[in-house]
Amino acid sequence: MDNEIQKRNVRLVKVDRKNFDSLVDLTPDEAGRHYVADNIYSLAEAYANLADGNKVQPFGIYDGDTPVGFVMIGYDIIDENDDLDKQYFIKDCYLVWRFMIDEKYQHKGYGKEGLKLALDYIRTFPFGKAEYCWLSYEPENDRARKLYQSFGFVEEKEMPEGWDEIPAVLKL
Ligand SMILES: CC(C)(COP(=O)(O)OP(=O)(O)OC[C@H]1O[C@@H](n2cnc3c(N)ncnc32)[C@H](O)[C@@H]1OP(=O)(O)O)[C@@H](O)C(=O)NCCC(=O)NCCS
Repeated sequence: MDNEIQKRNVRLVKVDRKNFDSLVDLTPDEAGRHYVADNIYSLAEAYANLADGNKVQPFGIYDGDTPVGFVMIGYDIIDENDDLDKQYFIKDCYLVWRFMIDEKYQHKGYGKEGLKLALDYIRTFPFGKAEYCWLSYEPENDRARKLYQSFGFVEEKEMPEGWDEIPAVLKL
């Protein structure tokens, strides 16, 4: 298994006209599908945010030339209902907005490698300086929770009012 991983060339590729078509079809397994928006929706959301001047970067997660997953990074993505005093981790902070591995490639370590690359990218501070990176997940999404905790994300004690996902925060 370790040998297999060493032979890989896992990388993030920015979504563009050449590759978006191969990314919209990627889908997690039945158990995971419910936890993440379809990639086509995420790309539409990225477009809408860019049109409003927000900072967002969607990536394909590739092994060599094979697309295996999708991750979308945002910066300073504020919802009108956010309470920025309580949610100190939103303003001027990075967000791992969407993250998924296609069902054919799940449970092979691509999630771990993809998230590491996403955090490496965030730590280059492409959109500006930040103290925190955050993300959120549904309370019963144990796979995602375990993975995020292994990278140092710390769950907030309370789910903010009106949210149906738990935020977790990483100090950058
Ligand atoms: C969460 C997800 C991205 C993980 O991707 P993956 O490639 O399957 O994960 P990996 O093979 O890299 O495993 C990474 C870690 O995830 C956890 N994990 C993976 N599969 C697991 C399982 N079946 N049960 C429990 N934990 C699991 C483990 O901590 C594992 O680390 P370990 O192998 O050192 O124990 C993937 O399952 C997915 O796309 N899920 C659906 C979408 C989703 O939930 N996205 C996150 C929304 S917040």
